[in-house]
Amino acid sequence: MPAQFILSAASASDFPRTGVPEIAMVGRSNVGKSTLINALVKQKIARTSAAPGKTRLANYYLVESPIPNPKSQIPKLYFVDLPGYGYARGGYDSVEAFEQLTQQYFDPSTRQGRHVAGVLQLVDSRHPDLPQDAAGYEWLLAVQAPVAIVATKIDKLNRSDQAKTLRALKEKYDSPVLAVSAAKGDGLDEVWKMIRNWARSDPS
Ligand code: GTP
Ligand code: MG
Repeated sequence: MPAQFILSAASASDFPRTGVPEIAMVGRSNVGKSTLINALVKQKIARTSAAPGKTRLANYYLVESPIPNPKSQIPKLYFVDLPGYGYARGGYDSVEAFEQLTQQYFDPSTRQGRHVAGVLQLVDSRHPDLPQDAAGYEWLLAVQAPVAIVATKIDKLNRSDQAKTLRALKEKYDSPVLAVSAAKGDGLDEVWKMIRNWARSDPS
């Protein structure tokens, strides 16, 4: 099944309530959320841009993971491309780290009929120490969903800087840390592995 665009949600009333496991993509504007979705599904379905702040809605894509073993068939899932944070505004504290729509997306009162199976928080591998990312992560920890950190654009770093960044992120974040280059296709299998594990586990 090719991945397909389902809808753009502007508020909680637009969120699909189908029980399909959802993988949420969060992170600063321009960090590479839409590009990662395209790389994972090997299709250009999500709009990407060199100019930050393009994705202002929650965009839902229906996808199926590439399954090496037919016996481990898993349900289809949604990738949810959430609005980026931290563009052209300063002074983020923990509550303002995310757009209102992102906060609604994770709010328990909107979760009826929805299964947020996991959250990929994307962090630019060149900037592992940004306070907005730390504030966003703190906020996500209170949310009922597993989180993994994904360092993006690792092709922009040399080997030793890649290792340095990964060390810094693992020290800073109390969640699994993965690294990807959507441009080169590096690290995508590990991201799929994480997603498959999340999608397999029962909704609580
Ligand atoms: P918003 O929609 O504004 O929140 O941004 P986004 O997080 O969706 O970023 P997007 O995927 O549009 O990517 C932003 C820019 O980063 C684009 O110019 C991409 O080509 C570039 N980019 C994304 N991933 C990579 C990567 O792995 N390597 C390199 N070199 N560039 C990347
Ligand atoms: Mg985007």
